[in-house]
Amino acid sequence: MTEIIDGKIISATVKERVKDGVKKLKDNGITVGLAVIIVGSDPASQVYVANKKKACQSLGIISEEYALPENTSQQELLDLINELNNKKSINGILCQLPLPAHLDEKLIINSISPEKDVDAFHPANVGKIMIGDYDFVPCTPAGVMEMLTYHNIDISGKNCVVIGRSNIVGKPMGMLLLHKNGTVTICHSRTKNLKEVCKEADILVASVGKAGFVTADMVKEGAVVIDVGINRVDGKLYGDVDFDNVKEKASAITPVPGGVGPMTIAMLMQNTLTAAKKQNGII
Ligand code: GUN
Repeated sequence: MTEIIDGKIISATVKERVKDGVKKLKDNGITVGLAVIIVGSDPASQVYVANKKKACQSLGIISEEYALPENTSQQELLDLINELNNKKSINGILCQLPLPAHLDEKLIINSISPEKDVDAFHPANVGKIMIGDYDFVPCTPAGVMEMLTYHNIDISGKNCVVIGRSNIVGKPMGMLLLHKNGTVTICHSRTKNLKEVCKEADILVASVGKAGFVTADMVKEGAVVIDVGINRVDGKLYGDVDFDNVKEKASAITPVPGGVGPMTIAMLMQNTLTAAKKQNGII
């Protein structure tokens, strides 16, 4: 029987844990605050930012939203980040990506204080992930790890194949699996014999950005299949995995929607709590 890995249930347990942690800090007179910056009016980004705000409110985290106009200058954005870096009541800063084309994304990410970088996009945090000594993990790979832990899926010695090599998902995902002693292969658009490589996977993580990309013939019988994709086709959400057919072969699989998606915000909340604890010398 294939296990359906339910992100709604697992994210709720993470959020409960965070809520407890926030309350404990509050009982000791410490507040937890997250600043979310959004520049321009990208509709998908607006939905994500609204959801982050809602999650903060439900967990007792103070959220400050900075919605800046499309024509915001680089200096204006840098000035705001500098102000938030120095603001005591703010523990985490997230600048929603993508930014409008006239803004230098790399420069902006690098200007966020690594101690408040709850996305874990700053090179200092990326480097820490590389050496396995990290406080923050990018929210999506962190969510995937949480799902594997929740289902007692052992990673040690397993063949782990990640499809996609983005800085936000593929690369950190590979590192986290490696730290748990997985044998990791990261595939991408130039990978030869992709189907054969995927067929060797005990744990297959798809982060491609193409609806239904992973088909049943690419999956080994009994594999664990994690679908990071969120693809909107004619207004409907699809993952990167052909769920209906792949689920017949997998031992466990995440659906879309209701899989990895809800985990991402839960892990952001967890990173924000961690930031507050670190900044207050609690951990
Ligand atoms: N845009 C899409 N996903 C993310 C994310 O995880 N963090 C930020 N800052 N922007 C995003």
